[in-house]
Amino acid sequence: MGRVALVTGAARGIGRAVCERLAAEGRRVAGLNLRRSHEPRPDLAMPLIECDVTDRDACARAIDRVEAELGPIDILVNNAGVTHDAMLHKMAPEAWDAVLAVDLTGLYNVSRLVVAGMRERGFGRIVNVASVNGQKGQVGQTNYAAAKAGVIGFTKALALECARKGVTVNAVSPGYTDTEMVAAVPPEVLQRIIAEIPVGRLARPEEIARCVAFLAADEAGFITGETLNVNGGHYMA
Ligand code: CAA
Repeated sequence: MGRVALVTGAARGIGRAVCERLAAEGRRVAGLNLRRSHEPRPDLAMPLIECDVTDRDACARAIDRVEAELGPIDILVNNAGVTHDAMLHKMAPEAWDAVLAVDLTGLYNVSRLVVAGMRERGFGRIVNVASVNGQKGQVGQTNYAAAKAGVIGFTKALALECARKGVTVNAVSPGYTDTEMVAAVPPEVLQRIIAEIPVGRLARPEEIARCVAFLAADEAGFITGETLNVNGGHYMA
């Protein structure tokens, strides 16, 4: 039977594309999302689970459900993320806290519950979704850039902890991608940003998903602690 994959932020955008890609590769995919949608999801092996990744008890309940229905989780994709953009001098404490809670602490909340079993079984693939803006910075995103830079540090530290246990931990760092999150950027600002991207366009969610699937493969066992940049040349690390 195919390996079991859990994807957070699975309803839309990159997370949804990741679910579809992993399912197409024969994985049995479960998805968590803040809000449940009743749309049919043939890519998912069980209905989308409503779960706020900032709620530790809810995460534990959701992971128990997935493991009871599908079996132990072999692949975890930490994709859930939010933005609350504002210049720092105008940034409300709630905007700081919310972004750090979802985009960074969410990784702790979910990964901690999954990684122990992966270590015991001697196999696991964790792929964290970072962002080009965690690497190059972005006006209006001190919260998001800090969280996403944190994702890269988290990835490296956990990769070291798991390296001898058959568990790899990597990040995919997307550039601006054609999702609702990016569509919320004011149009004139977005036009300026696209003009800065050497490839001259936004990424398609499928282009990010392909890279997540690459790192989630059984054959990717010698890649760990790595950040795969998929940004159209916007930032070359
Ligand atoms: N570089 C330099 N300066 C910039 C700038 C930029 N890219 N963008 C804005 N500024 C400057 C403005 O010129 C302005 O300067 P002055 O006051 O001297 O004129 C100042 O910053 C403030 O600009 P605004 O008046 O527009 O300020 P605002 O408070 O209304 O809005 C903002 C600021 C919230 C940052 C808004 O510009 C914005 O939403 N920008 C988009 C931020 C962005 O790219 N977010 C990414 C979301 S998608 C995502 O995060 C996914 C991913 O992983 C890539």
